[in-house]
Amino acid sequence: MILTAKDKKKLIGLVFLSFIITLIETIGIFSIVPFIAIASNPALISTGFYMKLYNILGFTSIPSFLILFGLILTGFFILRGIYSILHSYLLNSYVFGIFRSISRRLFQNYINMPYSDFANRNSADLIKSITSEAMYFSFILQYLLFFLSDIMILVCFYIVLLLVNIKATLILSVVLGVKVFALTKITSKIMKDEGVKRESFDKRLYKILTETFGNFKFIKMLPDKKNILKKMSDITEQITRTQTTYYTFMTIPKNILETIGFASLLLVIVFFIYKYSDSAFILPFISVYVMALYRMFPALSRILGSHNYLVFGSRGLDIVFKELTGKIEVENNEKIEFTKKIEIRNVNFSFEGREILKNINMIIEKGSKIAIIGESGSGKTTLVDIIIGIYKPEEGNIFIDDIAITNENIKDWRQKIGYIPQSIYLFDGTVAENVCFGLDYDEQKIIKALKKANIYDFLRQKEGLNTLVGENGIKLSGGQKQRIGIARALYRDPEILVLDEATSALDGEIENRIIEEVFNLSENITLVIIAHRKNTIKRCKIIYEFNNGILNLSTHQDV
Ligand SMILES: Nc1ncnc2c1ncn2[C@@H]1O[C@H](COP(=O)(O)OP(=O)(O)O)[C@@H](O)[C@H]1O
Ligand SMILES: [Mg+2]
Repeated sequence: MILTAKDKKKLIGLVFLSFIITLIETIGIFSIVPFIAIASNPALISTGFYMKLYNILGFTSIPSFLILFGLILTGFFILRGIYSILHSYLLNSYVFGIFRSISRRLFQNYINMPYSDFANRNSADLIKSITSEAMYFSFILQYLLFFLSDIMILVCFYIVLLLVNIKATLILSVVLGVKVFALTKITSKIMKDEGVKRESFDKRLYKILTETFGNFKFIKMLPDKKNILKKMSDITEQITRTQTTYYTFMTIPKNILETIGFASLLLVIVFFIYKYSDSAFILPFISVYVMALYRMFPALSRILGSHNYLVFGSRGLDIVFKELTGKIEVENNEKIEFTKKIEIRNVNFSFEGREILKNINMIIEKGSKIAIIGESGSGKTTLVDIIIGIYKPEEGNIFIDDIAITNENIKDWRQKIGYIPQSIYLFDGTVAENVCFGLDYDEQKIIKALKKANIYDFLRQKEGLNTLVGENGIKLSGGQKQRIGIARALYRDPEILVLDEATSALDGEIENRIIEEVFNLSENITLVIIAHRKNTIKRCKIIYEFNNGILNLSTHQDV
């Protein structure tokens, strides 16, 4: 569900590669044993299998046989090393590729989610999913692969050990098995709890950071910053605690296993000495176990570590799954013509069960200039959001030249609209980047839009199109920011221009000038202005007034 078919295939391929590595490793390590056996007891060469090999290859002296054997083994281990590096490269590029594709898909889902869902989310949380949770998710895959390859190592080695000596191997496995089982039982629960805590602490940290930097002026004005600092350091303290617990528990299996490991190794040696008193004979056996355990303990402790990570990071998996299966809007590009009028028919809309718009009816003729007034909180922005296709009406609909807006044509409809909100968010970049935000860069068009918005001359005294605005336009005045917002709306060549109290934060003088300019440039444009002040709307022929969710026609005399 989360992984694409291609990623799944790659995953299976990687598991297969791990399996080959495991086989190479098993063969490599266990072929050292006959080597040691012959080296320590050359008489062995005259027995069965070795004799045949020795004769077939036409050797005349035992040392030359041993040298060749040793060289072959060396080559084998060099190959294994190269293969491991290659495998590790493939694994890492897979894991980080998954991070890339998951964060991309999360981002894509987020930018396509319904606005009403977005309004109920916290952007810090979305940022956290895209950066941190996607990373946790890809590491889960990595640890899963580690887990599988270590299991394979264990199984292969275990089979060989069983073939070498059943009794000793069984004793060993019972001792190890019990400890491993106990270790997993104890750590799983703790890891899971810490993983859940980790996610909720991360969420709070991201939130505190965005709140703080988003309110910098306010924070500057505070008598002291103790409270904010305390909030931040409390949360980092908790994060520190979960991470400390996690990393400590990560090392516990390794430590315990090493202790148990050496104890059980000694046990096996004692067993062999007790069983066979001939030291030349037991040396190969002991070397089998030493070699095998030398490789098995790290594998076993990595299995426990991976298991811990899988449990700890599973919260990332839950979140990625939830977010990727979240609701998105499928919208199409069907064309819609606007030549006559926009008609709002019987529109109802509520927020959280509270009716905001009650049976709204309204006609906006093409090219007309209309005003919407009403008290703050009366539903003006909500109505405009429905007209521009950001919210969907619960009942009723919007008709353009008698064709209803649906998911099929909503994209084309939105493209005809230039929207200037009350507060414009400018990102940290140049004026030009801010104007063409989300669209292709066209220098001439940007200049044209800036000229129309009456800000081009001011910019020419600075660095022109490349003037930096600072985060959220911190380097500009309110009026300048607003003009760039207007240029941004005009850059889209809108047929309809919507100003949602776009100038009410400015002083009367500047507001008048900007509104005057907007009227002058929108001869053929349909204009919808939401405003507070009388002056702003004096050139609008049609005025609607909101009252308790009900919209009525009004006149200049009433206002
Ligand atoms: N996303 C939302 N969730 C819940 N209530 C909302 C949401 N957005 C706006 N509201 C509420 O809807 C009402 C109308 O808001 P709005 O249309 O922004 O008013 P206006 O633009 O006229 O000042 C307000 O009471 C506001 O609290
Ligand atoms: Mg509003």
